[in-house]
Parts: sequence; C-alpha cells; structure tokens
Amino acid sequence: MDIIQEIKKLKKQKNAIILGHFYQLPEIQDISDFIGDSLALAQQAEKTEADLIIFAGVSFMAETAKLINPTKKVILPDLNAGCSLADSCPAEDFKNFKVKYPDHLVVSYINTTNAIKALSDIICTSSNALAIINSFPKEQKLIFAPDKNLGNYLNKMTGRNMVVWPGACHVHKRFSLERILQIKEENKEAKIIAHPECEPEVLIVADFIGSTTSLLNFTKKDNSNIFIVATETGILHQMRKSNPGKTFIAAPPDDATCACNDCFFMKLITLEKIYKSLVTENPEITLDIETADKALIPIRRMLDLSEKLGL
Ligand code: 13P
Ligand code: SF4
Repeated sequence: MDIIQEIKKLKKQKNAIILGHFYQLPEIQDISDFIGDSLALAQQAEKTEADLIIFAGVSFMAETAKLINPTKKVILPDLNAGCSLADSCPAEDFKNFKVKYPDHLVVSYINTTNAIKALSDIICTSSNALAIINSFPKEQKLIFAPDKNLGNYLNKMTGRNMVVWPGACHVHKRFSLERILQIKEENKEAKIIAHPECEPEVLIVADFIGSTTSLLNFTKKDNSNIFIVATETGILHQMRKSNPGKTFIAAPPDDATCACNDCFFMKLITLEKIYKSLVTENPEITLDIETADKALIPIRRMLDLSEKLGL
C-alpha cells in the first residue's frame, strides 16, 4: 500500500484537512495541507471549510482547533502527544497562585490546558506575545503563564514586570550553551537563532530570537550561510527546503547521548497513525463543555486582536 496516496485519497473522500506543526517529522510536514506555527495553525483552523481536521501536532493545538470548531471532528492521531510545558502548570496550583494577585490580568501562552485558558484573560503565542502584551496599558498588572523563559524575555522586551509562572519546556530548557559555542567556534560565520522558550544564557548569545515562523523567515532574509538553530529540530526541514545551499545545524542538548532537542510528544505522530485516524476518524478530541466555553473567550480575544493587528 502506498500510504501517502491512501492518505491523499481519504482526505479527499472525507473532506479532511491535515494541519501540521513545524516540529512534526519531515514526511508529515510534506503531506500536511497547511504547515505553520501555533498561531497560524489556530488561524487556519478558524478558516477551514473541511469537515474533518486531522491535527499533526500536540494536544493543546488540537484542543484549540476544537474550541474554535465545536461542531467539527478534530482528530489527534495519538492522544499521548501532550506537552511538558502545558503539564508544568496544573490548574489547581495556578488557581491558588492567581488569587495572590487579585488586581492582575492573566496572559497565557497557548501551550496550556483548557483549564488554564479558562482562568486567563487573553492567550498569546510566541508570534504575537509582544503585541498582545503591549495592547495592555503600561500600568496594567499582568501574570504571564506558563513559560518562565518566554515570560522573562517578554518582561525584558516590554520593560514590564509581569509575574511569571515558573514553567518550562523540556526541549527548550536543555540546550547546552557550551556545545552551542563550540559549534560557533568551529563555524565562526554561523548565526545563532533561538526560540524565546530557551534559557536566558542561550538567548544572550543569540543573533536572532523569535517564534518558529520568524526564525524561518529570518533564515530566508539573512545573508548568512550557516545557522545554529536553538529550537525543536523539526523546523530544520522547512529551513532546508526554503534555503537550498544554506547549512542548518541543530543546537545540541546538554546530554550528548540523548536526542533531547526532539520533542518526544511531537514525534509520536507518524504517517501510519495519520492514515489510521483518517480511516477510523479517531481518536477524537472531546472537551468538557463548561471549561471549553470559558477557554474560548481568551482564545477569541487573541484571534480578534491578531486579526486587527494584521498578525
Ligand atoms: P510556536 O509554534 O508558536 O513557535 O511555538 C513553539 C512551540 O513550542 C510549540 O510547541
Ligand atoms: Fe510542548 Fe516543548 Fe514539545 Fe512545544 S516543544 S510541544 S512546548 S514540550
């Protein structure tokens, strides 16, 4: 069986769309109808006329697509594709944390559960976080959750003093500054580019910091020929496709024996699981209605503001 042809056939038969994140395996990126970062994927989920959404990504992304499309079937080919960053912010703990700051509004990163979204005033992604935060008056006190590195970076960029939840992503917190600098030493002309979820010591040496989309765009515009990329390795596929002739080196993790710069959760999605989920229309994302109603409000605010700002 030619699995790619079968996937294409089933997609057509069922009016299905595959939405894929940049951290997916190359072969999955290549069969996706749309490939993007978490903001672009949420926007695409809002626009789609497909009846069936196959989400090649992780649970918070598929759940966001379902929040936006409550009447459509949203499938996550492996329900174990979670997110360590979302897990680092349990709802009960966050609720207790939030009561300590009664005059603060909550800006949450999209990498959260719906229970956290339901406790938030607005959602952001790494693509629109600066604009979302700057949309509040300077004197408005804010909590930022759950990524501490992104929150601290945003505080630095905006001159604010947001209270930051101490969460982190297991991939981005493990890049080794020492090993990155060693590669830079061997490739002096290389530019270091990093996602803002990386530790501050990595961000300090980065020539450019941005979301996955802006990192990709930077590699297209910049005239450097070598890039050391400090984010999940999946994005290198798009960088190589968009920039034939340029060299991309995945920033290494602190342990030379592990592939910790691969997101274990993202890599749970395979072509076989996508094929199976198209056949069975399972496993389907289902949401608790009460939580979903509350979680949709800050998601809508993010989408509306992003549209207004042309993001
Ligand atoms: P973006 O897709 O928003 O750049 O976020 C990266 C990420 O960590 C997704 O899991
Ligand atoms: Fe979550 Fe990190 Fe994986 Fe992104 S890379 S899905 S933040 S665990």
